[in-house]
Formats: sequence, C-alpha cells, structure tokens
Amino acid sequence: MTGKSTRAIHGHGYYDKTLGVFKLPIYQTVVFEHPEEGGVPRKGDRGFDLKYSREENPTVRGLERTIAELEEAPYSLAFSNGMSGISTLYLSSLQSGDTVLIGKESYGVTQELALDLSRFGIKTIFGGPETDALIERIDRNVRMVVVETMTNPLLRVLDINRIARRCKETGSRLVVDGTFTTPLLYRPLKNGAWVSLHSTTKYLSGHNDSLGGVVSINSEDDLQELWSMRRKVGSIITPFEAFLCIRGLATLEARFEAQSRTALKLANFLSSHPRIKEVFYPGLKGSPYRKVADRLFERRIYGGVLSFKVKGGQKKVMDVMKKTKVIKPAPSLGGVESLLTYPLLGPAMTMSEKLRQELGIDESLMRLSVGLEDEKDLEADLDAALRSS
Ligand SMILES: Cc1ncc(COP(=O)(O)O)c(C=O)c1O
Repeated sequence: MTGKSTRAIHGHGYYDKTLGVFKLPIYQTVVFEHPEEGGVPRKGDRGFDLKYSREENPTVRGLERTIAELEEAPYSLAFSNGMSGISTLYLSSLQSGDTVLIGKESYGVTQELALDLSRFGIKTIFGGPETDALIERIDRNVRMVVVETMTNPLLRVLDINRIARRCKETGSRLVVDGTFTTPLLYRPLKNGAWVSLHSTTKYLSGHNDSLGGVVSINSEDDLQELWSMRRKVGSIITPFEAFLCIRGLATLEARFEAQSRTALKLANFLSSHPRIKEVFYPGLKGSPYRKVADRLFERRIYGGVLSFKVKGGQKKVMDVMKKTKVIKPAPSLGGVESLLTYPLLGPAMTMSEKLRQELGIDESLMRLSVGLEDEKDLEADLDAALRSS
C-alpha cells in the first residue's frame, strides 16, 4: 500500500476468510475468553492479548493500525477524544520538576490542562506565536514542547521541521498536534517529532458525530508507558466511536481535498468583499505562511479552516452568526457541515486580553470551518449574511 487513500481504506487489515468479510465489525464486548491466566498484564507488557476492552479491543486496534499506516508510524493508540489523548500522554511522560513549553496560540483547553499541571510540580511556559520566538524559548530545561502544525484561530503555519531540529539539540521531546493538517499534509514523526497526535473528532472522523483522539509514537518503550497509563486512566476510545472513525477515514482524502478547495475559493471571495477587513488563510497568495506551507506540506492544499475580520465589530459578528442559514454557528471543525465560530467566546475565551492583543484576536474575528456543501451555496450564504443589516 503506498497511496494514502488506500492506506486509509485498507489500513486496518481486517479479513475474515471464513465468512468473506472485509469490513471491520464493531466488537461490542467488554470481555474476551482468556483461560490461561488471571488477566493482569505484567508491568511494561502492552498486554496485546485480548482480555478486557478498557485495555484492548479489535475494532480499536483496527483504527490504530489505520492511523499508523497513514502516519507511517510504528505505533498508534486511540483515545476517547483528543484531550484524553493529550492528558494521558502528559500523565505517562511528565514528572514533578519538568517544564513544558506550549505554543502561545494553541488550543485553549490544551493550555488550561498544562497550567493545571502546576499542582503536580510541573511548570508550563509559553512561546511563539511565530516559529522564531518559539525556538528562542527551547533550551535544555524544557522537557516537552507542545505545538500545533497550524494555529487556531489565525492559521499560522509553524515550521515544525526547524522546531524539531532545535528540540533534538536540547534533548526536548516534541509533541505535534496535527489536527488542522491531518497526515495528508504533514507527518510529524517523519520530520523529527517525538509524538504526533490528532483529535479525530475533526477531519479524521469527519462527520461531526463522533469523538476520538490518536497518539502515534516511535519508541516501543514510550508506547508501553502510554498504553499502561491509558489502561489505568481508562481513556481508550469505545468500539463504536472507533468504528465511526474507521468509516470516516475511508473518505478522508476526498473530503479534505474538497474542503480545502472550497476554503481557498471562499478565502479569495472574502478577500475582496466590501464588508471584510482581513482574511487569514495560508493558501492565499499574499499569506505570510504560504511559503512555509508549500515547503512543509506534502501537497499544495491548505486545509478547510479560514478566519476573517468583519467591519462593524462584535454587533456585526453576532448578526452574521444569526443570519447564515446553511452555515451553522457552532464550535469544532473538520466535519461535513460548515461551522462558524466566534473565537472570543470559544477557543480564545480563556486567553488574557494582553495575549489576545499580541496574537491579533479581537471582537471582529470569525472562524469558518468549511464543510462539504456546494461552494456557491456557502458563498451566497456568507454574502447574504454579511450584506444584511
Ligand atoms: C487543535 C486541537 N487539538 C485538540 C483538540 C481537542 O480535541 P477533542 O475535542 O477531541 O478532545 C481540539 C479541539 O477543538 C483542537 O482544536
């Protein structure tokens, strides 16, 4: 298997020869018959034997194999959502006295969680939002660096390859959240990251109907630690959600390509709209991130999320949110339905005013996650909402 769609469709490798079934079933069972021993894995033993679905489940394994194929990673583990993947990773790999460096414009809940770690003697510092400023903060005291390939909500593209080189010099572990780019655009483990993670809730599952997270890792020892913590915390994905994600992954490439094409068209349309002040999308010719995206990404598409500032401030923003008909006002991204988010009341709500100013997030900013509706309908919907009132 070389192509990414082939990997996404067949990566789970399931085949029941007796019945001739090649669709991976939902193994809706908690227990597996296990006559030989009591069932508690030895320390450090991933316990691949199927015993209990908080540890292992065949449908979950199918999802993990598919993700590992896509990422070209030796190991992947699936979690009940993106945050449970991140928190299980923190629990399994950090200890008192460690310092974690987080990108300034990363997902707000990731930042909140890292700050909570101070209760356990783990220090969180922030760096960025641009690559150079982030790299400046990485030194030998930094145990872990957590960054996103494309930032939220302003879609800055970070030069992860350079960040990875710096982490190698300082011995810091680089964790890359590639939720916005998917393994179609960028595969962190191939470029020097320690861990690659995704909220599968977004593009990988892709239908706004299931939660999940995946963590891919190179080292078998680190996998053992992570697996063991997932077992203790109980943060494994359910078989049903794993099934939905496997089903979604089969169409990932077709969806992501179409969403990216529409997003570029809408970004260009909004760039010349009289009610718009500024558009943020790395695929735009004038974007300061186009060059780094073209150098890093495995193909010339730029994802399905864009953001823009409207003339008229918060009142106008609220009006637009109420007036779109096809596009729904809702958080999240990456699904088949187009969603409009107001970052000030969502991803940026917990940020300080000072940080918002530094990043350029203000009351006129809106984020659009482009779905799979017809581009002309989305354009007409936005145009009507922007022009009314
Ligand atoms: C970049 C990024 N990482 C992680 C998460 C958390 O994922 P989940 O909602 O599946 O827990 C989100 C959620 O929006 C996100 O945007």
